[in-house]
Amino acid sequence: MGKPARPVFAAIVALFALSSRTCAERAEPRADRATATGEQMASHFDEALAIRDALIEGDLETARRRARSLTEWRASDLRAESAGYVTEFRAAAQAVQDARDRGTLARAVGRLAASCGDCHRGSNVSVELEPAIPPPAEPGATAHMRRHLWAADRLWEGLIVPSDDAWASGIEALTTAALRPETLSPDLPLYPRVEALEHRVHALAEEGSRTADTGARIDIYAGLLATCARCHGLLAE
Ligand code: HEC
Ligand code: HEC
Repeated sequence: MGKPARPVFAAIVALFALSSRTCAERAEPRADRATATGEQMASHFDEALAIRDALIEGDLETARRRARSLTEWRASDLRAESAGYVTEFRAAAQAVQDARDRGTLARAVGRLAASCGDCHRGSNVSVELEPAIPPPAEPGATAHMRRHLWAADRLWEGLIVPSDDAWASGIEALTTAALRPETLSPDLPLYPRVEALEHRVHALAEEGSRTADTGARIDIYAGLLATCARCHGLLAE
């Protein structure tokens, strides 16, 4: 593919490296967890998010590889009412590992997130995360993408906590106007495809604003993640 696309891909990879640990724009489990399950949860939280980020980047191989540790979770420290949910959690992680294409993988990641939320709801656990500060609404592609990532994180919380408020704020952040494709890609032949994908992100957000059903939210989230991955993959070609 044309040369201009390469630096764009480098920028995508660089941001994820930066945002994965240090950034106050990302939510974290609260630091005061004392129980064994709490510690396990923090590590699942990091691992599952890393899987999702790899998918957004378009790196399906890393997403699959990282899902492996989650398929092996033993429920030794969980109370009986939670233990039953481990089966679905592990099955969802297995589906991530086995997924052959981007769409199937995205759907499995959505299912994994919902399996976290199902267990929390079923166990009467209220998960609290440190609030994440929204990135400033500056012009340009990088700032637009940081808002996309922030929104994708809120939707993620919407599924894993689960939280209607987090879902709604993620949707709201995505329903802002789509970027003009020339801002995104200096590569002329790619314009129409890139433009269609950016519109798809915002169209999916519209759909997401109308549903409270978990199954429908999984579909919408999967559609979104696949669209992020598709565009980043296209630009890296
Ligand atoms: C099989 C049930 C189950 C599944 C599946 C599950 N959790 Fe949990 N989670 C719990 C329980 C129980 C707690 C409460 C732990 C405690 O307070 O000791 C918890 C607590 C948490 C916490 C709060 C930790 C703390 O102490 O502050 C976070 C964050 C969390 N889970 C994230 C996740 C994520 C992300 C996933 C999916 C990748 C997930 N959980 C899947 C049962 C589950
Ligand atoms: C239409 C194409 C397109 C879509 C769709 C898209 N992106 Fe991007 N993304 C880009 C481009 C182009 C860049 C490089 C921007 C730059 O120059 O910093 C980028 C970069 C990024 C970055 C790195 C930004 C930085 O600071 O370098 C993140 C994070 C990101 N995208 C998240 C997302 C998420 C999350 C989604 C889906 C909700 C998404 N993107 C959907 C084109 C897209």
